[in-house]
Amino acid sequence: MQRLKFPKGFLWGAAGSPYQTEGNNTNTDWWAWEHSHKRVEHLEKQGKDPKAYFSGIACDSYNRFDEDFAIAEHLSHNATRFGIEWARIEPRQGYFDESILDHYEKMLQSAKAHGLTVFLTLHHYTLPKWFAECGGFEKQENVRLFLAYVKKVSKRLGEYVDFWITINEPEVYASHGYFFKKYPPQIRSLSRCIKVVNNLILAHNQASDILKFNTGKPVSMAYQLSDLQPASFLGRITTAVAHFLANSYILERTVGKSDFIGMNYYTHHHVGLLGFRKKSGTGHILTDVGWGIHPEGIERVLLSLKKYNKPIYITENGVADAKDMLREKYIKEHLQFVHSAIAKGADVRGYLYWSLIDNFEWSEGFIPRFGLVEIDREDLLRRKVRYSATKYAEICKNNYLEM
Ligand code: BGC
Repeated sequence: MQRLKFPKGFLWGAAGSPYQTEGNNTNTDWWAWEHSHKRVEHLEKQGKDPKAYFSGIACDSYNRFDEDFAIAEHLSHNATRFGIEWARIEPRQGYFDESILDHYEKMLQSAKAHGLTVFLTLHHYTLPKWFAECGGFEKQENVRLFLAYVKKVSKRLGEYVDFWITINEPEVYASHGYFFKKYPPQIRSLSRCIKVVNNLILAHNQASDILKFNTGKPVSMAYQLSDLQPASFLGRITTAVAHFLANSYILERTVGKSDFIGMNYYTHHHVGLLGFRKKSGTGHILTDVGWGIHPEGIERVLLSLKKYNKPIYITENGVADAKDMLREKYIKEHLQFVHSAIAKGADVRGYLYWSLIDNFEWSEGFIPRFGLVEIDREDLLRRKVRYSATKYAEICKNNYLEM
């Protein structure tokens, strides 16, 4: 058996996001979309029960956060990633609800009391309804509205935050909302998608200055980076284009303002000449959501980041696996390649599994189960630690992996 040691002080933990876990985020564009006539009708036409796709009470983590952090501590995590919901904090433009800020302060204090280093996300897909209604990130002049929120929360909550994540997966947010029509506002327009991307870049770069000035803590986006490999000789051209669009366009324009690189890694794609992206599953074991498992890819992506000369934290990596048959192997194999990337010079300093608890998986509802901890939706959202979580806990505790 081989023992793979991780660098001293390595951060171990799991991640989540407010909309997916808190419940009752009624003031967001997502909530409005979930309940919209168009969305409900669409699900019914597919023979699905719309109720299974309402986020509702989610995991009730708005009230049960202390229980969740206690589980993380029990599982030997020393770090956590979660977010705060802008729509709760600023329910109307310019009005910041102090009672909600008090709530998030308690939540941050709880994370600290459980010995967790905190990565705090400020924007994870959802928007306050009022912000979406005035054009959201499509309008450059709206960036200042996001910055006002950033200013407020950095002053009020900054003392508890160790790492800031300004925006989660800007490439997914823009492409799914403004091109693939998967997420609200379900638009298909390349020009509008590009506008959103450029405004998110601006938002990050300016937010980074504010966060550093007000708190002095390191800042990054959580970039979703995929391993893209040509499916054929000619596919090398489309791979280069796909790599530019999916991985490097935003990163190159924001990395100068990021103190570390927050990296979310899930998928590997074979890129063909015409197909742009072939199924990620080609030739690999598939997760419950049909994504191919490809741990080698994480090493390639990490090594591609070496040139930026910044510390890297893996802010998401995980598997939808309701039966808990794949998760232990998934984590261990990915970590094996993370270890190998470190040995080859990638400055990786932490790993946050996605996710701590089963949660609301956006347009897929509650069906995909990514959690280290099961949420029993038939039994008052009872938290049940999965076997794989205990195996991951051993790695967190030891700071090494045995293969
Ligand atoms: C997102 C999460 C999501 C996960 C699994 C990531 O792209 O940041 O919100 O739940 O992937 O799909």
